[in-house]
Amino acid sequence: MKNYRLGTHRAVPPQETLDRVLPHLPAMGITRLANITGLDEIGIPVMTACRPNSKSISVSQGKGVSLAAAKVSATMEAIEIFHAENIHLPVQFTSLTELKKLHDVVDITQLPSMDVSPFSAHERRLWIEGRALATNNAIYVPYDLVHCDFTIPLPPASGYFQLSTNGLASGNTQEEAICHGLCELIERDAMTLWSLLPVLQKNAKKVDLSSISDTSIQTLIAQITKAKVMISVWNITSDLGIPTFFCTIMNEQDSPHRPLYPSSGCGTHPSKTVALSRAITEAAQTRLTLISGSRDDASIELYKQLQDSNYQQVIKDTVFAPPPNLDFNSIKSWEHVTIDEDLSLLLNQLVKVGLDNPIVVDLTKAEFNIPVVRVIAPGLEGIHDVPGYAFGQRAQCLQQKQNCKKERQTTSLAEHKQEGTTL
Ligand SMILES: Nc1ncnc2c1ncn2[C@@H]1O[C@H](COP(=O)(O)OP(=O)(O)OP(=O)(O)O)[C@@H](O)[C@H]1O
Ligand SMILES: [Mg+2]
Repeated sequence: MKNYRLGTHRAVPPQETLDRVLPHLPAMGITRLANITGLDEIGIPVMTACRPNSKSISVSQGKGVSLAAAKVSATMEAIEIFHAENIHLPVQFTSLTELKKLHDVVDITQLPSMDVSPFSAHERRLWIEGRALATNNAIYVPYDLVHCDFTIPLPPASGYFQLSTNGLASGNTQEEAICHGLCELIERDAMTLWSLLPVLQKNAKKVDLSSISDTSIQTLIAQITKAKVMISVWNITSDLGIPTFFCTIMNEQDSPHRPLYPSSGCGTHPSKTVALSRAITEAAQTRLTLISGSRDDASIELYKQLQDSNYQQVIKDTVFAPPPNLDFNSIKSWEHVTIDEDLSLLLNQLVKVGLDNPIVVDLTKAEFNIPVVRVIAPGLEGIHDVPGYAFGQRAQCLQQKQNCKKERQTTSLAEHKQEGTTL
């Protein structure tokens, strides 16, 4: 049952989650939770969780409509990454050809990959066992798509699959974690498809914020506009039909003493209100991540680009200027009572587009008993704005449908970047 429904749908309220996980933080190397909300004028709660000497990013960010929710969000993200950095499950070091002789193996042509390194079915690499959500049957997946130990040297044959945290999730229950992981995968897939759309099509999906009656969303929007920050939201829901929004915020006026950044966030959830709340709070989180300088992989080049006044003017003209016309009430939404219903919906929508085999690797550790999973949904697109990402079949089909020329790929990436950054 969903017993908590404020900006997120959860089995228990955030404070209960915190009470349960806080005693375990020292054992996972989480040394500090910091409230960074006050470094910005907006006031939407944002927290960070520090994990020094980690094997990937050492500071996790979290957001929410309350401070407790933001605290859980940052803490749970740090927890799930710790789990993915320190996997003690059995792995197989073998080639695809050999593995297939004994086990079911995921169709590797459907997984997010990079164009920098070819795949060889005869090369040995690490594989880990997951279970297919539809059948509960064991199935092997590349370890690269599960672990987050990004220390050098990477395991042998790394480089073909896209390394990321995409689909990694935690929760109060395993179902909750799986739902979150699947929503994240659907969100990133939608972002990649969205990045390929021409500007006019994007403009038509800009949401008229005055058509939103939900009071918690109106409160978030009021917090942003009161701080003299502009906000635009697009309905980027893909053919999967699960509500997905992209939000960009940016200061109304330039401030030479404190040049701030256009910042974006994205959110997916069966409930469109939760999806939108996640996108808006994530945009506020991105801005605070940049302000606080807490993210290890935000380079000085990124700061320079985002603070460039010409770039900011381009964003104002192309992103904020077009009028919003889409009525929020016209967007479909599901307000289920249980997490299981959300999960069934997500799986059914995947089946409808021919993607019926999501896989879960359970990373939960007995000593903490905090549900952590890595979800893999073959066929969904990976993260498009990572250099070297090779578009999958869905993106290629969309490109063909749009009669896109070969150079389209680079143009659309540039267009996407003009919308500000998500972190
Ligand atoms: N109230 C909560 N109770 C339990 N788990 C939560 C709660 N809020 C967030 N989480 C978990 O914390 C993790 C981070 O979630 P959050 O929504 O903050 O970020 P996210 O959208 O996954 O961020 P990113 O896009 O950076 O991965 C997820 O695994 C999520 O399931
Ligand atoms: Mg996440």
